[in-house]
Amino acid sequence: MNVDVGQREYRTSEIEKTIMKDLSTTYLGLKLKNPVIVGSCGLTNSVEKIQEFADNNAGAVVLKSLFEEQIEAELASNMASYQSDYPDAYDYIRNYTRGNAVDDYLTLIAEAKKAVDIPIIASVNCISGSEWVSFAESVQKAGADALELNVSLLPSNPQKRSEETEQLYFDIVKKVSDRISIPIALKMSRYSAGLANLVTRLAWSTDHKIAGFVLFNRYYRPDINIDSMTMSTAEIFSTPAEITESLRWIGLLSGAVKKDFAASTGVHDSEAVIKQLLAGAAAVQVVSALYQNGPHRISEILAGIEKWMEEKSFTALADFRGKLSYSNAENPAAYERIQFMKQFAGIS
Ligand SMILES: Cc1cc2nc3c(=O)[nH]c(=O)nc-3n(C[C@H](O)[C@H](O)[C@H](O)COP(=O)(O)O)c2cc1C
Repeated sequence: MNVDVGQREYRTSEIEKTIMKDLSTTYLGLKLKNPVIVGSCGLTNSVEKIQEFADNNAGAVVLKSLFEEQIEAELASNMASYQSDYPDAYDYIRNYTRGNAVDDYLTLIAEAKKAVDIPIIASVNCISGSEWVSFAESVQKAGADALELNVSLLPSNPQKRSEETEQLYFDIVKKVSDRISIPIALKMSRYSAGLANLVTRLAWSTDHKIAGFVLFNRYYRPDINIDSMTMSTAEIFSTPAEITESLRWIGLLSGAVKKDFAASTGVHDSEAVIKQLLAGAAAVQVVSALYQNGPHRISEILAGIEKWMEEKSFTALADFRGKLSYSNAENPAAYERIQFMKQFAGIS
């Protein structure tokens, strides 16, 4: 049987012969047995599925996000008339709805922690530092090893200055930091005209405890159906070609900013993981490839990394991690290059 590990194909018998390598890494201060994390998505919303990922040797799991908007939408739906006509009932139902969404999430954290021995990272999708931040304490109490803040920013409002938009990151992280002691990862949007400066300021600020950055979230993307001439949804899953955006920024920032970076978007195979590690990532997050190939994809990716390490005579990730970051690469300018000034592979 052949195992597809990116552009390389290895026979499973060859993989079995591979000497076990030390794939362990430290991410957000957590010791992971390997750098392959299941990213936040619908696949991490049940203990059974999390167990399957652990059985396939995932390094850690990020739970499906608890959405600030989802909670607010739950509260708002069907409540408008109640609010004015039956204020007491409204208050009761308001608390009840909130209790359910949060309780289910906290139960998931606690049960996942009991079921598997890999780190469980909780996730909150947020757009403000409002009421929801008190939930962070409950997330910690339930046993989460870390909290990933999925701050959804789209700088689409022409009235809003970039500083105003980006201040949200600082406000949210500060408010959450004041309440919890578990490590915090910030999952970022790629939309910033001053990304390197923003990440550096976030990393250096003494106001909060960001332990690492996840670059980048891949947002829902709109599309247009030209037959019906209506708005539609673009492809939900990434392609392997999409790895380049986070590769550039992890390469640029990992050596300069002393925090852990996890790559997210476009990591589908072992080759992509190796590239991100060479660029300086402490870990990678995989989602689309798991939807498309199942949990076994993790084992295949790990086998591919070990095989490559064997070929290169590496025994541990530390032997090569960051070797091609901006600070270490022979040609770091490649990370900053944005123009095609000469002919590439016959394309002019
Ligand atoms: C179906 C689906 C659901 C997702 N749900 C979440 C979520 O709840 N929270 C979050 O931070 N990211 C979510 N994401 C984004 C992924 O975590 C990830 O950042 C993105 O898919 C890019 O990684 P990939 O190229 O490996 O798919 C979701 C992605 C998909 C495809």
